[in-house]
Amino acid sequence: MHSLSSVSCSVSWVHVSSQRRPSTPTNTESQRPGLNARERRANFISITAVHHHTASWLGEHLAVALEAYHPRRVAAQSAHQHLTPDGAAKRGRSRTLSSGQGLQPALSPTAIRKRLLDPKRLYLALSVDDLHPKTWGSYWDHFGKRLVELIRIRPGSSVLDVGTGGGASLYPAAEKIGPRGKVIGIEVCEGCLKRTSAEIERCGISNARLLRMDARNMTFEDESFDFVLSGFIGWDDYFDFESCRPIADDVMMSEICRVLRSGGRVGISGWAVQDESTVLRDLLYEYLPSDSPHRKGIAGWSHRETPEGWQMILSNAGLAKIKTFVERYVEIYPSEDAWWSSSFDGDWKQVAEDLARSGVVTIQALRERAFEMLSRYKRADGIHQVRDAVLAIGTKP
Ligand SMILES: C[S@@+](CC[C@H](N)C(=O)[O-])C[C@H]1O[C@@H](n2cnc3c(N)ncnc32)[C@H](O)[C@@H]1O
Repeated sequence: MHSLSSVSCSVSWVHVSSQRRPSTPTNTESQRPGLNARERRANFISITAVHHHTASWLGEHLAVALEAYHPRRVAAQSAHQHLTPDGAAKRGRSRTLSSGQGLQPALSPTAIRKRLLDPKRLYLALSVDDLHPKTWGSYWDHFGKRLVELIRIRPGSSVLDVGTGGGASLYPAAEKIGPRGKVIGIEVCEGCLKRTSAEIERCGISNARLLRMDARNMTFEDESFDFVLSGFIGWDDYFDFESCRPIADDVMMSEICRVLRSGGRVGISGWAVQDESTVLRDLLYEYLPSDSPHRKGIAGWSHRETPEGWQMILSNAGLAKIKTFVERYVEIYPSEDAWWSSSFDGDWKQVAEDLARSGVVTIQALRERAFEMLSRYKRADGIHQVRDAVLAIGTKP
């Protein structure tokens, strides 16, 4: 929801935006310590974090302003509450802390972030990061946010997020709709339900909740939602993207359209080119016998969804104003080892372990061969892997 990854030494003032700004100008520029423009430019970074979505948890007007650092000075100012090392919030206090625990302006953004947010150094028990719900990370978060942007969710809307997973689109939707709106996520995976619900609770996100519900059989009334989102839920049971034709009655899309109100919009993402799947598929194909039943499964996992296919799915469901397109995302792994530990998992790993058990190839040999195959993706900054998504939006007439 809030990201500090953009903190950079070359930026004088960095604002971490909030879900909802306070009604009074509490911790905004007016309350900064008196720094002149030259000082700001030369030596200071300010991080202002307003976390109003956590209001229910921390009090009506929680506003934490973390201000200014300098080699010989650290100043932190909080407007309404000052958070003490043990996490207790002292209400109604506004004070500036100065200390000799100065931060060096030459620190890397990561080090700055770590040290700025270290509760012991700055007497802030709650780091800004702690207020962010934890998600699955880069690729998921990127396209989750894109979906919310693309369907232009309005404040105050009701939103359904189908197959919430780690909350990649649920949290940006909650941020967008504000306190008058609501977002409901539905999930069938117990682990996702548990972890994401716990994050919603921990971060005090009062306009979002998660329900255990199968998207093929929803219990919502007709026309309950202004917007429906669904990120990477997979449509293979209903549509063959290779031949671009439906293969079964699309109960999932029928349900989505049923619960969407007239004039409401749907936003879907699906997998397009995925270099990781291509590498793993080619790797395992080298060792699998031609009649291995695994070949069919692998072909399925490494299939690509297409804009043409999504155009047909949405239009068959009676949606209008359809737009489908591919967007690029490149994941950069710092090393082959990093790639292997992230990618060699799940079903791929199981097939590899089958091969190892039957004596065809060892896991170590597979790993070495994979590293050879990765050489074509290697650049100066690491292993580049394309992870494209098909994005599809439509409107219910
Ligand atoms: C690949 S994850 C994507 C999660 C998230 N939407 C995102 O974009 O990061 C797909 C999720 O959809 C859920 N899912 C799959 N089929 C479902 C169904 N029929 N009803 C509800 N959730 C489903 C899975 O459990 C999984 O968590």
